[in-house]
Amino acid sequence: MYFKKMTGQKCYLSPIDENDAEKYTEWLNDLEITVNLGPLYGSILNVDKEKDLLKELSKNHNYSIIDLETNELIGNCGFLEIDNLNQTAEIGIFIGNKNFWNKGYGTEALVLLMDYGFKAINLHNITLRVFPFNERGMKCYEKIGFKLIGKRRESLKRGNKVYDIIYMDILNKEFYEKNIDIYQQ
Ligand SMILES: CC(C)(COP(=O)(O)OP(=O)(O)OC[C@H]1O[C@@H](n2cnc3c(N)ncnc32)[C@H](O)[C@@H]1OP(=O)(O)O)[C@@H](O)C(=O)NCCC(=O)NCCS
Repeated sequence: MYFKKMTGQKCYLSPIDENDAEKYTEWLNDLEITVNLGPLYGSILNVDKEKDLLKELSKNHNYSIIDLETNELIGNCGFLEIDNLNQTAEIGIFIGNKNFWNKGYGTEALVLLMDYGFKAINLHNITLRVFPFNERGMKCYEKIGFKLIGKRRESLKRGNKVYDIIYMDILNKEFYEKNIDIYQQ
């Protein structure tokens, strides 16, 4: 069951429903998806494990991304590592239903979550990590206004290659300068 917590033009963000564990398990066993997702690429995931994981994720600011028109689950996004003292957090996202890639859903879901993060959780700085071969991800983050802050050198192994991990961040005021036309304060 889904609830409209943050609503955009294409999708809305809902609290996680742990009954979706099977769908998530399907997506998180797809290497084309998990190649972009840190340790999930090299880990074993089944429905029981995913149910426990969803239970844990739903205790924090993690949300399901739901297509507004069809009410279909298409992915997940959330904040990791919220630091209330320093008002910082890291953001993460994946769209598991590949039919929804490149249609603006990822950008809108992140804008919704970030607007909520800046206003309701009182964040000041949001950071993320992205892998250098994930051009779609980087384009999406640049559109929102994320800026490159640095690279952790040779910290990612995929196949026989070693890559730098890219770090990006954005401040509250930069986000609203770029996205003010979409989400008025
Ligand atoms: C990364 C992800 C969240 C982006 O969401 P999305 O809905 O597909 O992205 P959007 O449609 O909002 O934006 C993608 C942009 O990248 C562009 N793009 C796609 N492939 C590209 C490529 N190879 N090179 C450059 N740009 C590319 C698209 O054209 C689009 O830009 P535009 O709106 O100016 O045309 C989603 O694709 C996803 O979940 N992928 C798998 C998991 C993942 O990578 N998660 C993020 C880990 S950091």
